[in-house]
Amino acid sequence: MAKVKTTFFCQNCGTQYAKWQGQCSSCKEWNTLVEEVVQKEEKKGWKPTDTSSKRTAKPLRIQEIDGSQEMRMSSGGLEFDRVLGGGIVPGSVTLLGGEPGIGKSTLLLQIALHLPFKTLYVSGEESQKQIKMRAERIFPDSQQCYILTETKTQNIFKQIETTEPDILIIDSIQTLHTDYIESSAGSISQIRECTSELIKFAKETNTPVILIGHITKDGHIAGPKILEHMVDTVLQFEGDRNHVYRILRALKNRFGSTAELGIYEMLGKGLREVSNPSEILISKTEEELSGTAIAATLEGMRPLMIEVQALVSTAVYGTPQRTTTGYNVKRLNMLLAVLEKRAGFRLGAKDVFLNITGGISIEEPAIDLAVVAAILSSNEDVAIEKDFCFAAEIGLAGEIRPVQRVEQRILEAEKLGFSTIFVSKLNKLSIKNPQINIRRVSKIEDVVAFLFE
Ligand code: TYD
Ligand code: MG
Repeated sequence: MAKVKTTFFCQNCGTQYAKWQGQCSSCKEWNTLVEEVVQKEEKKGWKPTDTSSKRTAKPLRIQEIDGSQEMRMSSGGLEFDRVLGGGIVPGSVTLLGGEPGIGKSTLLLQIALHLPFKTLYVSGEESQKQIKMRAERIFPDSQQCYILTETKTQNIFKQIETTEPDILIIDSIQTLHTDYIESSAGSISQIRECTSELIKFAKETNTPVILIGHITKDGHIAGPKILEHMVDTVLQFEGDRNHVYRILRALKNRFGSTAELGIYEMLGKGLREVSNPSEILISKTEEELSGTAIAATLEGMRPLMIEVQALVSTAVYGTPQRTTTGYNVKRLNMLLAVLEKRAGFRLGAKDVFLNITGGISIEEPAIDLAVVAAILSSNEDVAIEKDFCFAAEIGLAGEIRPVQRVEQRILEAEKLGFSTIFVSKLNKLSIKNPQINIRRVSKIEDVVAFLFE
C-alpha cells in the first residue's frame, strides 16, 4: 500500500512544512501547525466536457485586446450591485465574510430569491426545510431558485450538470470537502482545494460563484490568507448584532472600487436596503439634549450624517473610565489629552463614555470635531443646536485640520436642512451661495467660544 502523505499546515497563514515545529516561521504564530493528509491525484474536481480549455494563451498587443466593458448581471439589489461596482461579473468568484449571525445567509438567500436567473443555493449548514422557512418570510414567490444541501464538491458539480444554474451560491466554503484531499472539512488544505475547484468551474463555464466564508475571532476570514488572493472580490458584512443596521463593504474588488458601501436594515422579513442612511441615523427628538453632536462623515463615496453621543461624569473610582462604542478608545484618549492640554478643560478625573448611534463604527478622523463637541457639551451640560454639524480633524496641537472632499459633506448637510456646519479654515471652498452657514474655524477655542458662550 502506498504510504499516506502528510504535510503540516499553519492554520493561521497556510504555509506548508515538511515537519512539525512550534512556531510558524512565516507568520510567527505559535502552535498553529496541524498535520493534514494530502493525496496527490491527477484528475480533480470540475471536469469540463469540452477540451477547449486546453488551448494555450497567446500574448496580444494591448490595442488588440477587446476593451469593451465587462458585462454585468444585476442582482436585483441596488446596494449589493453598487458595492460590487455595478453588478455581478460573469465568471467572477466573490467571497462574503462576516461574524456568525450577522446575516450572511439571509443576504445571499435574499439575492438568490430576487435574481431573475436560475440560481443554485448550496447549503452545508442548514436543511432544505430551514431554508424554505426563511425564504417564505423573505420572498415567497420566487420561481428560479434551487436549493441543494450538500457538502461534497464532486456531488455539487454533478448536480450542476443537470440543473445548469446561471449563478452558484455556496454557504459556506468551510463546510465543503473534496474527495481528493483527506483532511477534515474546514482545514486549510480542504478550503484551498475546494476554492480552486470552484474557481476553475467559474472561469470555465463563465458562471459567477458567491462563497460565504466564516471569520476567525480576530476578524479575518477563516482559512488560508491565500483564499483572499484567489477570489476576485472579497466582501465583508458587518454591524453590531444588537442593532438593526448592517454594512456591506468590499475589501478587495478586481472589477470596481473598494470605497463603496451598502447599508441594510435587518427586519423580520429579511434585509431592507437603506437608500437614505443619514435620515435614520440621526435621532429625531424634540427636546435638545446635551452631549450629542452630529458629524458629517464620508463612507466610501457616500456622505453620511452620524450622531455622536458623549457622557462625561465625575469618576467614582480612582482611575476614570473611558468607554466607547463604534469609536477607537485610543483616539478618544488622544482627543481628551488635547482638550486638557491645549484648551484647558479638566477632564482627567472624569469618566467619559462615547457612543456612535446606530451600531455603526467609524474610523474616519473627520468625526473628531463632533466627538470633541459632544464631550464638551456633556461636560458643560449645554446642548448644541440640533441643526449644527461638524466635519474636521483635530491635530495634537489642538489645531483644526482640513478633511477630504469637504464640499460633498457640506452639500449633504445643506440638503438635510442643517443650518450651520463647522469646517477647518484650511479647507479650500468654492461653493457658490450656499444656503448653509459655513463656519470656518482654526482652533478648538473658536468652536468653544461659539457654542458655549
Ligand atoms: P443568518 O443569515 O443566519 O446569519 P449568518 O449566516 O451570517 O450566520 O442571520 C441570522 C440572524 O438574522 C438571526 O439572528 C435572525 C436574523 N433574521 C432576522 O431578523 N430576520 C429575518 O428575516 C431573517 C431571515 C433573519
Ligand atoms: Mg449562515
